[in-house]
Amino acid sequence: MKPTLLLTCLSLIPASFATTIYLAGDSTMAVGGGGNGTDGWGDYISPYLKTNYTISNHAIAGRSARSFTREGRFATIATLLTPSDWVIIEFGHNDGGSLTPTDNGRTDCPGTSTEICYSEYDGVNETILTFPAYLENASQLFLSKGANVLIASQTPENPWETGTFEYTPTRFVGYAEIAAQVAGVEYVDHGAYVASIYDTLGEEEVDGFFPIDHTHTSVAGAEVVAQAFLEGVVCGGWGLRGF
Ligand SMILES: *[C@@H]1O[C@H](CO)[C@@H](O)[C@H](O)[C@H]1NC(C)=O
Ligand SMILES: *[C@@H]1O[C@H](CO)[C@@H](O)[C@H](O)[C@H]1NC(C)=O
Ligand SMILES: *[C@@H]1O[C@H](CO)[C@@H](O)[C@H](O)[C@H]1NC(C)=O
Ligand SMILES: *[C@@H]1O[C@H](CO)[C@@H](O)[C@H](O)[C@H]1NC(C)=O
Repeated sequence: MKPTLLLTCLSLIPASFATTIYLAGDSTMAVGGGGNGTDGWGDYISPYLKTNYTISNHAIAGRSARSFTREGRFATIATLLTPSDWVIIEFGHNDGGSLTPTDNGRTDCPGTSTEICYSEYDGVNETILTFPAYLENASQLFLSKGANVLIASQTPENPWETGTFEYTPTRFVGYAEIAAQVAGVEYVDHGAYVASIYDTLGEEEVDGFFPIDHTHTSVAGAEVVAQAFLEGVVCGGWGLRGF
């Protein structure tokens, strides 16, 4: 990666006061990624942040918006926040599937709004929300603590997998945008920025970013995915307001 434009944009990030950037997501963002030498992108934004920004990466492999909520992980982040901190929320890889015949504890209720599903999981008749509803709920909690919230769309699976570049955003990409709009928080179409860079880099290099499957990236891949995020944040326009 040697994008001049990106570096120009990043130089616009102001350094002012101490801020923690909390990350909530799945393996594609988590430290250690999906294991076996893969890594998530979250910590790789650190070198591009000017000063006084600390990353606190709470992303964890295998989680969905639903299981991150049920396990109290958004609630934990909320207890740590101080005003002016940021929370970046990115889910989607583990949110699909069906609640029947077997509920894996991660699948969300279908829909984009206030739909509710019930499912017996882990001995509990669980009330299950839609993907946007989980993200809106978490966003409202963080906003109530005076924090800033950014919802990002999920990363693409290897779009060169078939030998021809093909990127079709999942429904959770659109759902992430809906959640951000409804919650009134920032949105970055991270998936689109990553896909665009993958398109430019070409099949050989991008295939090399996916050592174990089509989802989890190598360290080199994680670095590109992090740069794509920052490109989305800063060059997307609103980043100039203080990230
Ligand atoms: C970093 O944060 C500290 C404490 O808020 C502040 O005193 C210092 O000026 C900041 N430094 C920069 C470069 O923004
Ligand atoms: C990771 O490596 C272990 C040991 O080689 C293997 O059993 C496991 O299936 C691998 N996992 C993935 C996701 O490739
Ligand atoms: C809303 O979010 C809070 C904090 O994560 C959580 O404790 C609560 O269960 C959520 N509400 C629903 C209906 O999921
Ligand atoms: C779960 O709770 C809902 C709402 O109270 C109820 O309608 C449903 O019958 C319950 N399901 C089971 C399996 O108990």
